[in-house]
Amino acid sequence: MPQIVFVQPDGGRQTLATAGEPTVMHLAIRHDVAGLPAECGGQLVCATCMVDVAAEWVARVGPPGEDERDMIEDTLGQVPEGRRLCCRITVTEALDGLVLHVPPVQG
Ligand code: FES
Repeated sequence: MPQIVFVQPDGGRQTLATAGEPTVMHLAIRHDVAGLPAECGGQLVCATCMVDVAAEWVARVGPPGEDERDMIEDTLGQVPEGRRLCCRITVTEALDGLVLHVPPVQG
């Protein structure tokens, strides 16, 4: 099972093994990762599941989808490089070792 690394704004790191979670958000919720309340539970209406994909992973994770991009832009007024809603990042074996930075503030 792939492992995902969450990095907090203070540099704290958690490496979490997935166990069948469909998305990164589900993994974060199961482990109560700080700074990722994901208030809507993945319904794409809250923008409180934002992460910054580490630069070396951006190409592999891919860009946000259209609705996701719109929500990020509506929330932040821009779409920073690597910014994603983790309820829209599907867990796959290809993402083993993925590093995600939790932003200091959610939407
Ligand atoms: S959990 Fe609400 S938009 Fe992702």
